[in-house]
Amino acid sequence: MQEIVDRIGADDRGAEIARQLLFPYLNHAATMYESGYATQPDIDASMRFGCGYPVGPLALVDALGAATVVEGLRSLHAVTGDPLHEPAPVLVGLAEDGGTFASASAGGDDAPVLHHPVGKVGVVGTGTMASGIVEVFAKAGHDVVFVGRSDDKVAAVQARIEKNLDRAIAKGKLDEDGKSTVIERLTSATDRGALDDVDLVVEAIAEDLDVKLELFRDLDRVCKPGAILATTTSSLSIEACAQATSRPQDVVGMHFFNPATVMKLVEVVSADSTAPEVAETVKALCLDVGKHPVSCGDRAGFIVNALLFPYLNDAVLLHEAGGGSLEEIDTAMKAAGLPMGPFELLDVVGNDVSLAIQRSLVETFGHAGWKPAGGLEAVVAAGKLGRKTGEGFHTY
Ligand code: 3HC
Repeated sequence: MQEIVDRIGADDRGAEIARQLLFPYLNHAATMYESGYATQPDIDASMRFGCGYPVGPLALVDALGAATVVEGLRSLHAVTGDPLHEPAPVLVGLAEDGGTFASASAGGDDAPVLHHPVGKVGVVGTGTMASGIVEVFAKAGHDVVFVGRSDDKVAAVQARIEKNLDRAIAKGKLDEDGKSTVIERLTSATDRGALDDVDLVVEAIAEDLDVKLELFRDLDRVCKPGAILATTTSSLSIEACAQATSRPQDVVGMHFFNPATVMKLVEVVSADSTAPEVAETVKALCLDVGKHPVSCGDRAGFIVNALLFPYLNDAVLLHEAGGGSLEEIDTAMKAAGLPMGPFELLDVVGNDVSLAIQRSLVETFGHAGWKPAGGLEAVVAAGKLGRKTGEGFHTY
């Protein structure tokens, strides 16, 4: 931690870039905490387990000292005049009395309870996230039935999982028997009727409300009473999905991170109708399958995306304003402890996905300073979507 604090405080161009991008992010995290949207442990765990950050934002404020962050934000605000750069009142309070987030929010959560057993799991979708989620549950010992729109699509999921298991064998982390055991737990289908006996369905289909509503109406028809119906949406209304069913109390958000097999975080999102024991069961299940659950409400961006994407957008704005080349900014942020530079991560997530998330955040929060950067709009318009198209901010 001291190394990161020293790097951020250094007197060079890389540290200047890191401060310019990190201080507004720390301010958003403080505002989120202050609003009561999520707890301090959950905000910090979200960025550690969802984005691989070595330290959560509120713990980083504690390590840097709230006074340093307030001073940095005030200098930035003097230049930009952006209300988003005005220090959050909670930061100013901590700076004045020398307090920390850790001491302000001491006390722990009780371990979540599995209110009813979850054995067989269903997954709908055949994209990157869906196949990662199938793999997570199958490796953890669950029978998984996954449903796609065509034989080709479900075969591609099966092939992707087998390839990952082969890679694990090559690394000596799994043997052939272990691979067979995981494969035997998988059943594929192109008919949603195959979901009639699952205890939990996780959908990871297109991020389009009409498409999701049609699916939830169908899941309501197909799934047995009491089955938990989960959506991996990152920006659509979970309450709207819940209201498409006759059992809104059983509908919940389970937001996994990319790559799903690696990132430990799952944001467990409760809509107004979600029964508390359903959200708690999902949290207990996440722990069972080796994930770290955090709780939050049904609002676009949840915890991670609301903190991550404005920072990624700021990186594009900084580059456009001549604040550094793509490489300089990527390198500066990695030197400050982040696992990837902002442009590398935008290319992994997909610039189209990132732009859609940033737009939904502006719609929800209304902050003018979060308006998508011209450079992000431009790469998407040019079809440079990131790694998946071979070119984004960087070329692959
Ligand atoms: N898919 C599957 N597995 C992958 C992978 C990928 N794309 N990339 C790496 N891995 C696996 C490796 O095989 C390895 O597995 P093993 O330990 O079982 O052998 C493990 O991850 C670690 O890989 P590396 O040793 O190569 O590790 P790195 O140190 O390069 O870490 C990383 C890779 C974990 C992806 C790291 O760079 C990281 O944490 N990046 C940040 C990713 C991030 O921020 N994700 C969130 C994006 S936002 C989001 O998903 C929300 C959505 O709504 C858009």
